[in-house]
Amino acid sequence: MIKFRDRKLVVGLEIGTSKVCALVGEVLSDDSIVNIIGVGDCPSRGMDKGGVNDLELVVKCVHRAIDQAEMMADCHISSVYLALSGQHIRCQNEIGMVPVSEEEVTQEDVEIVVHTAKSVRICDEHRILHVIPQEYAIDYQEGIKNPVGLSGLRMQAKVHLITCHNDMAKNIIKATERCGLKVDQLIFSGLAASYAVLTEDERELGVCVVDIGGGTMDITIYTDGALRDTTVIPYAGKVVTSDIAYALGTPPLDAEMLKIKHGCALESMVKKDENVVVPSVGGRPARNVQKQTLAGVIEPRYTELLTLVNDRILQLQEQLRQQGVKYHLAAGVVLTGGAAQIDGLSTCAQQVFHTQVRIAQPLNITGLTDYTEKPYYSTVIGLLHYGKECYLHNKTEIEKHTAVSNWLKRIHSWLRKEF
Ligand SMILES: Nc1ncnc2c1ncn2[C@@H]1O[C@H](COP(=O)(O)OP(=O)(O)O)[C@@H](O)[C@H]1O
Ligand SMILES: [Mg+2]
Repeated sequence: MIKFRDRKLVVGLEIGTSKVCALVGEVLSDDSIVNIIGVGDCPSRGMDKGGVNDLELVVKCVHRAIDQAEMMADCHISSVYLALSGQHIRCQNEIGMVPVSEEEVTQEDVEIVVHTAKSVRICDEHRILHVIPQEYAIDYQEGIKNPVGLSGLRMQAKVHLITCHNDMAKNIIKATERCGLKVDQLIFSGLAASYAVLTEDERELGVCVVDIGGGTMDITIYTDGALRDTTVIPYAGKVVTSDIAYALGTPPLDAEMLKIKHGCALESMVKKDENVVVPSVGGRPARNVQKQTLAGVIEPRYTELLTLVNDRILQLQEQLRQQGVKYHLAAGVVLTGGAAQIDGLSTCAQQVFHTQVRIAQPLNITGLTDYTEKPYYSTVIGLLHYGKECYLHNKTEIEKHTAVSNWLKRIHSWLRKEF
């Protein structure tokens, strides 16, 4: 059995409202790619809108997903990058300012200014999940992305803080630790999804990513290359299924199957003469229903969900405009997550957003791509990209540390020889 440390492996775990998914990825010499070597996936139980509401059930699901992934990847999983979602996720944009210690800005100055920017009051009972630098200013020069080496007297940093409720974080960590796993880091699901599906150009031009899952829509908005907003809306694919169940009088499990196999988010795309068999409840016989009727239930609900997203975009754009920050989303809207897989969604979404829309699957992966190159896997693949970045960052930190200590050793032995 190949042990974890013999290969550079990272593991992503998403305990979603609909599915629990564990992926094992191998960090390759090409830094931008993750090679997927193991997948474990099972329907989620005990989760609601991103939060744990039955610990025992969640633990069972995590065990199943991890066992499958371990078997496929032939490794032992001891720690994971874990996704977190839920309406408790909040964000705030903050500013920090410090004098530049030497003639030019050093990496240490950058760390200090970011630390100052995050040292602010956050919501009660919340903890900081991410501190993401947006841009720096040195004296009168604004919009700097990498200030190291530049000269100046004072440096300012703008950062985006993402926070989460302490107890929500504790519960999902507890479920994971009960399976004997260590949590490397907790990552906001929407942020992970954006890492998996966006290109650099899209971030620069301005883009809104929506990860549409079962219980939540996780939104991240980028303009001018920086993250400006993160929000969670507590409605998603499950409400569509529930509408179908009510409208057609069919059990929820059948409504889910009908949606996945025959659903369409654009009524006008469906031919009039196509029918589907709809199971009934209470022993009544199944009925033939026009596919168009099914789409007639689905389209209004998707339109409503996406309108909630559009309202958020408009609200943020107004705030950014007032602050003099670029607010255009020239790269439009990118939809991903399981519920973005429905037919006709891009046209339905264009009617809501009046801009270009792309349904996105994860990028920069190799290995088990036949299986995982789907919007459904975006979040968990984003966790692997995040984990890979942490791995590479830690490696350079260690290398830097060793380089410095080697250098100190050399000076030390040189001094000993001198005296
Ligand atoms: N082909 C499909 N068409 C429409 N909805 C789908 C399809 N595949 C999955 N879904 C929906 O996607 C949702 C699950 O998405 P997922 O991203 O796995 O959720 P989560 O991360 O919240 O567990 C469910 O509501 C499911 O009905
Ligand atoms: Mg998800």
